[in-house]
Amino acid sequence: MSAEPDFDALFAAAAAIQPRAYAPYSRFKVGAAILADDGAVYAGCNVENASYPVGSCAEAGAIAAMIGAGAQAICAVLVFGEGAELVTPCGACRQRIREFATPETPVAIAGPDGIRARFALVELLPASFGPANLPR
Ligand code: THU
Repeated sequence: MSAEPDFDALFAAAAAIQPRAYAPYSRFKVGAAILADDGAVYAGCNVENASYPVGSCAEAGAIAAMIGAGAQAICAVLVFGEGAELVTPCGACRQRIREFATPETPVAIAGPDGIRARFALVELLPASFGPANLPR
């Protein structure tokens, strides 16, 4: 997919799912949306747990939805959150995205007012370890 991704569609999907996040502990709700290689948009939200480390991030949910639907690659990502700081993916989620993306894959960071920043994945996770590092 070489055309510019439809970030408006990604924003709409991430903004729609963000209020449904289950975040009673941090009270920090996050939505994420992926444009996949099948042309569809997959969304996820964070789901926390009383056993704190068991909680999962919005990006993990979106990736699970993508894989469950049969898509194989991430063409673009948008993360939606609130607050003064950019809600960039955590380190673990950068690696999760890496598994299905390329160094150039765009990762947009949005808040209620729209997209605030855009990165290439390689900017967020340089010199990364990925599937090609492992012998097949
Ligand atoms: N969180 C995400 O879901 N995605 C991000 O990109 C940043 C952080 C969640 C994890 C946790 O439920 C809450 O936000 C506070 O860290």
